[in-house]
Amino acid sequence: MGTELMNSDSTVINVRSDTQTLPTDAMRRAMADAELGDETYHEDPTVRHLEDRIAALTGTESAMLVLSGTMANLVALMTHCRPGDEVFLDANVHVLRAEAGGLSRVAGVTPTIVPSARGHLVARDLDAAVRPRDVIRPRPRLVWLENTHNLAGGSVLDPRTQAGIAAVARTHGLSVHLDGARLPNAAAALGTSWSDLTSGVDSVYLDFTKGLACPLGSVLAGPKDFIDEARYHRRVLGGGMRQAGVIAACALVALDTLVERLVLDHETAQLLASELAMSDNYRVINDVETNIVVVDVSKLGSPRFVAERLREVGVIASLRPPHAIRLVTHLQITPALAVETARRMERLATELVIA
Ligand SMILES: Cc1ncc(COP(=O)(O)O)c(C=O)c1O
Repeated sequence: MGTELMNSDSTVINVRSDTQTLPTDAMRRAMADAELGDETYHEDPTVRHLEDRIAALTGTESAMLVLSGTMANLVALMTHCRPGDEVFLDANVHVLRAEAGGLSRVAGVTPTIVPSARGHLVARDLDAAVRPRDVIRPRPRLVWLENTHNLAGGSVLDPRTQAGIAAVARTHGLSVHLDGARLPNAAAALGTSWSDLTSGVDSVYLDFTKGLACPLGSVLAGPKDFIDEARYHRRVLGGGMRQAGVIAACALVALDTLVERLVLDHETAQLLASELAMSDNYRVINDVETNIVVVDVSKLGSPRFVAERLREVGVIASLRPPHAIRLVTHLQITPALAVETARRMERLATELVIA
């Protein structure tokens, strides 16, 4: 493991996100030893190997390595849609809230927000939101899903609900894209395969930089003609790569060594939530289904105030305004560190209440 955190008062516990993970020693070795070629000509054997494995795991025809999740989503939008086309999505999906407005600025699509439950679209509301084609309206084109849903606290979209949404999309002639940045977490939580969770979707992106601890690298997968076209859009965005096998090698080690253990991150999140449930000062406000714990801190102050005080005692969290902070478990967060996180939070709360 790159950095071994010890259970001591001086340890900084970084639960800001699972993107804070560091690559393991095996990953670093694989990057150094990777067989390489020029990816722009699709001649990097390690990249091709990774893409083939992801296509097989997701039950798709083809896959393509990209530099980041944001780029994967943007390429998906540009491949599915023409500028002006309408995309149906939940109000808090990552592509709308945290990807710098690229969907409008670069892909030029028209977002239409559809009511959702736990961040996942409700099939009958989607049905009602799609209007007949008409010269005055944007052309309805794409339905957007996110599994797990980051801003909904890591909530999981189950295959049955997804099938219902996909059926509505088909009725209206719409394609479906799945932002699966944390699809491996969803699969671990449901005890199912990745291909179960891609059933009914036209394209999916998976990320290696979240719970899978890679420093960069995401994969977009779908039908062969879709991925062929996506390669063009990746190039347009400046995402064409050369000896990208160094990235793919790392992801291949993650596939072999880190996927199975994601359930441990979920157990650690449960442990953290149950420790915090014993406190009168904090309130866990999400159903902890995966590795994300959202905590209402309003008894102590604003999220920013509490997060700044927590940083002083060595706990790094992210903000979930207006009332909450977010804690995410990952490869470097052991059960002991989860307990230590709750202990530091409670000690801080006691100090703040007394002051
Ligand atoms: C659900 C989801 N999609 C996409 C992304 C984009 O990934 P990146 O920020 O690495 O580009 C993230 C990042 O956290 C995410 O949580």
